[in-house]
Parts: sequence; C-alpha cells; structure tokens
Amino acid sequence: MGDHLDRRGFLKFGAGVVVGALATASTDQIIDATSGLERSLRDRDFSVEGSQSLQARARDKNLIFGASTTARPIREDAVYAQRFAQECAMLVPANELKWQALRPTPTTYNYERGDRLIHFAQKHNMMLRGHTLVWHQGLPPWFKDTVHANNAERFMADHIQTVVSRYAGQMHSWDVVNEAIAPGQGQARGLRNTPWLRLMGESYIEKAFRLAHEADPKALLFYNDFNLDFANPKDEKKRVAVLQLIERLLDKGVPIHGLGTQAHLNAAKLQQIHAGKLRQYFGRIARLGLKVMVTELDVIDQQLPRDIDLRDRYVAATYEDYLTILLQEAAVIGVITWGLSDRYTWLSGEKPRRDGLPVRPLPYDQNHRPKLAWNAIARAIAQAPPRQVSQS
Ligand code: G3I
Repeated sequence: MGDHLDRRGFLKFGAGVVVGALATASTDQIIDATSGLERSLRDRDFSVEGSQSLQARARDKNLIFGASTTARPIREDAVYAQRFAQECAMLVPANELKWQALRPTPTTYNYERGDRLIHFAQKHNMMLRGHTLVWHQGLPPWFKDTVHANNAERFMADHIQTVVSRYAGQMHSWDVVNEAIAPGQGQARGLRNTPWLRLMGESYIEKAFRLAHEADPKALLFYNDFNLDFANPKDEKKRVAVLQLIERLLDKGVPIHGLGTQAHLNAAKLQQIHAGKLRQYFGRIARLGLKVMVTELDVIDQQLPRDIDLRDRYVAATYEDYLTILLQEAAVIGVITWGLSDRYTWLSGEKPRRDGLPVRPLPYDQNHRPKLAWNAIARAIAQAPPRQVSQS
C-alpha cells in the first residue's frame, strides 16, 4: 500500500474527526484541512533543552513521572530495565496485581510475579501504584462459577483486605475501582454492566474504597477510567457520569482521594483536544478535593499515515497538547505512561495497523531509543507550573 492510498484511508476515517467544525465540508475541504494540519506538524518544533530524565524534569516541578510494565521484560531485557529505572520515579505493575495473576484458586494467593516487580522498583527507589482491586476484566477463570450473589462481598472483602494489607505502607496509591462507568449500556447512572454490579449492586464501589482505606489508611485511593479525553458527545457523557459517581461517593463520606484518567489517546482525534473542556472538567474534580493522575497514557497511531516521521509528529503533538493542558491544573500530581517502549505495548495486539507496520505509541521506540513523544512529554513538563508540595 502506497503513501497516497494510506493517506486517503486516513482522510476517510478522519472525515468527522480531523475537522469537527467541517461536518458538512466537501472532501476537498477536508483534504485541505488535513494537509494544513500535516504541514503544521512537519514544521512544529519539538526540541528539548538539557539531558535530564523525565523523572528528574518532573521532580523539579514536584510532579511524578512513571510508567507501567509487566514483569517479563524487566527480567529479560537489561537495556529496557535500565531505561525504565533511569526514566521512572514510579512503577505500576501492568498485570501482576490483577486477580488473574494473584488468585490461582479461590482460596490461594500467589504474589511471586508482583513481588519481583515491586523489588525492582524498590531497588531503584521508585514509588509504586497498585493496579487494580476491582475490575470486570483480569478475573481468574474460576471466578465465573465460584462467585455468586451470596458470597461476592466476602470474596471482594477478602481480596482487598489481604492484598492491600500485604503491601500497606509500600503503595503510593491504588486504583481501587477500575472502569465502572459505561454510559450506553442501559444501566442506571451510566454504570457499566459488570459482574460486580450484577452481584452486589452499585454499593460494590463504595465498599471497595472503605475496605481499601481500612487496610492501608495512608495509600491514596483512586477511581480510574478511560474516554474522559476529547470534545465529543461520547466522552462528554462519560465525563458527566464519572463526575456524578464521584459526587455520590463523596456525599456518602467514602474515602476516595483521586481520579485516574487513563488517557489512551487516539492521535486521529488530535483536533478534539479541547483546552477549555479539559480545564473545566479537571478543575471541577479538583474543587471536590480530589487529586488527579494521568494513569495509562499512550497514543494510538493505528489510523495515522504510514510515514514514520509524520506519524511520530502526530503522536508527539497529541502527547504535548494534551499534557500541557492537564498539567496546568495543580491537582494533577503525576503522569504514568502505559508502558515505556514500543517493543512492549498492549496496542500491538489490541490496535494493530492495517499495513502491518509496528505501532509507535510510547516515548521509546522498539530499540529503546527516545522518540519525539519523549520530547513532547519533556516539553509539557517544562511548561507546567511547579507544585507547592512534593508528591512522594
Ligand atoms: O500471562 C499470560 C501468559 O502466560 C500467556 O502466555 C499469554 C498468551 O497470550 O497471555 C498472558 O496473559 C495476558 C496478559 O495481558 C500478559 O500479557 C492476558 O491474556 C491478557 O488479557 C493481558 O492483557 C492485559 C489487559 O489489560 C487485560 O488484563 C494487557 O497486558 C494490559 O496492558 C491491559 O491493561 C489495561 C489496564 O489494566 C486497564 N485499562 C486498560 C488497559 C489496556 O487494556
């Protein structure tokens, strides 16, 4: 497939996306707008001063920079492990603390994989985030036939008490409840139709937070979700439902301390990043007294043109535009990318490109060399106002 065809494919996809304002525009107008965007990306300056790591740049502003990783590449890829330790002040085990990993059987816990990552983090003086205690995915195969309405609360309580107590004092924060909102599934208050909702009703959410707080009163407890990013009706609905959930929890005195916005950003929606909407939303969350973390940042390049320089520029622009806005809000205490290097990203499996080229969503490339996305993160941090208090 040539560049030309690729670009047309992108244009077709981007008809409603690249220039939202041109909903009724002709193909020629869309092509002009896209060419204009691409020209400005080709000319855009992503230069960075100095050679400090991302964690050092963030620390200078009292911000946290970190990434998630799975255990295997840390164990098997020395260059990657070295980059990770150099760049990250915080490590998030990507899968190792999920039920699927921790709970081989209904009555046993296996901490081996999680502990290996935690030791690596501690050896390199990194902070830790726990991910995740209550989610509809990442459940073990036995869950479906074992957990029912009469014992679900006991299973959840046992899990949270056991796991959170084990790591008490070691976790900066936990994603207590993950992805509980999905407006459009027909449930009241935009709740996602999950096994937990079906087994326990909405109260599963507040119970999870209360249990986690009892088990580790010092850890910051987060509600974590995706699709809170762009100026479109779908994300707007989701933002509202998440805000309302947080307000309901606070009204009941539930110990919730933060909102994690995952920010799996699609670069094809670059022009739907809306400073006003993002500032207004996260400002409201801040006024409720919550902290905010960008918890799973990466930039999906599935629908972008194949040209690597242009693609990297789209991705970098998405990182920089989004983060620059978010980091203006003082309640945002840190940024976690979902992986560090393109060699190990969930997106190669989940959002592969049609042309078969490797995806390039993260700050480091397949060979663990920094890309423009790295510069973009450094530039956004440089523009961030310094926080008054250290987050560590
Ligand atoms: O551990 C097995 C391994 O033994 C086996 O060889 C391999 C074969 O496919 O599968 C391995 O497990 C996979 C695991 O990733 C480790 O690679 C699971 O099948 C797969 O479901 C799992 O996917 C993870 C997914 O969450 C579901 O838990 C992704 O790596 C992880 O990046 C993704 O992360 C989620 C966040 O937790 C929440 N937000 C969205 C984000 C992306 O989906």
